[in-house]
Amino acid sequence: MKTRQTAGAEIGQPVRIEHGRHRSVSLDDERAEVRRNLLRTLPRIDSKYFYDDVGSHLFEEITVLPEYYQTRTEEALLAAIADEVVEATGARELVELGSGAGRKIQLLLDAMRRGSHLEGCVLLDINETFLRSSAETLAARYCEMEVRGVVGDFVHDLGTVGNGGRRRLFIFLAGTIGNLYPRQMDGFLRRVRAALGPDDAFLVGLDLVKDRGRLEAAYNDSAGVTAEFNLNALRVLNRRFGTDFEIDAFEHVAFYDADQEWIEMRLRARRPTSVSLGDTRRLRFDAGDDIRTEISRKYTPNSFVAALEGTGLELSGWFTDPEALFASALVRPIGDPESS
Ligand code: SAH
Ligand code: AVI
Repeated sequence: MKTRQTAGAEIGQPVRIEHGRHRSVSLDDERAEVRRNLLRTLPRIDSKYFYDDVGSHLFEEITVLPEYYQTRTEEALLAAIADEVVEATGARELVELGSGAGRKIQLLLDAMRRGSHLEGCVLLDINETFLRSSAETLAARYCEMEVRGVVGDFVHDLGTVGNGGRRRLFIFLAGTIGNLYPRQMDGFLRRVRAALGPDDAFLVGLDLVKDRGRLEAAYNDSAGVTAEFNLNALRVLNRRFGTDFEIDAFEHVAFYDADQEWIEMRLRARRPTSVSLGDTRRLRFDAGDDIRTEISRKYTPNSFVAALEGTGLELSGWFTDPEALFASALVRPIGDPESS
């Protein structure tokens, strides 16, 4: 249990920070998974490795880039729909997955406060620094509210968010759901379903299918911030797992795959290079060889409804901005969680 008071701010309730299961996964197990992913036919690094403190700051820089329309569009959308969503769900507690800097959530907290039913919020993120800082900011700003933080992985730790017995709205913003691979998606949605009570709801931010030019510009910004963000995954692996990627041997690549309806980010070897896998092996890359570091799925209403099918969740509201760049999908549980 941890209490901190921000100078000049009102005294909020104590912030409770817990750790999810991902903390108890040993470094060796994590290293083995990283190695397995690098040994795929198309080597892969999980996008969660972008988000050390440097990467999380770079993501914040991305959110204000002129090409990256997603954040400002979702913010405007949430501002417009917050009262309606809070009223429709009757939520008294927000649970944010991948909460990051914790700014957008305030649009919903403000709406809950206006409706006089703001009781609690739970933030879950893999980056402990950002989690602590945003939990403390929210606790100071919304003194009436109980704040919990879970340092965890939204793929594995949904069971950790607990239930304070209040009606809850889970939120998963920014289009981060699009960073899950198709094979992870069904299990993830079923775990969300299992975490929801019968009267709880789930609000998901979805980046929408649109013209290739607009999409590719958002991941190839002229200031090169996304390229730095992408390369940062190699720095994180070198530091955390003792790999020895030569950072300057790789360059950022991002393109739209219209068949899969996703942006794919890769790191492409500019020259022959190799990396130690931490045992006796070295993985060699020729110039032009790729590592996939992220997919960012773009949705249509139909493809999102298809993703929900069979998970025990159904679409109950669909909100978009006037240009239909981004959507907020309101999802509700159906049936018995055990039987879906
Ligand atoms: N919700 C914020 C941040 C989105 S960026 C916004 O709307 O702007 C994605 C966030 O998810 C980052 O804060 C990152 O640290 C977190 N994240 C990425 N992979 C994660 C994982 N597997 N488990 C938990 N958090 C993760
Ligand atoms: C967090 N997530 C929704 C971002 C996205 O657009 O898929 C991550 C990102 N990757 C490159 N730029 C931003």
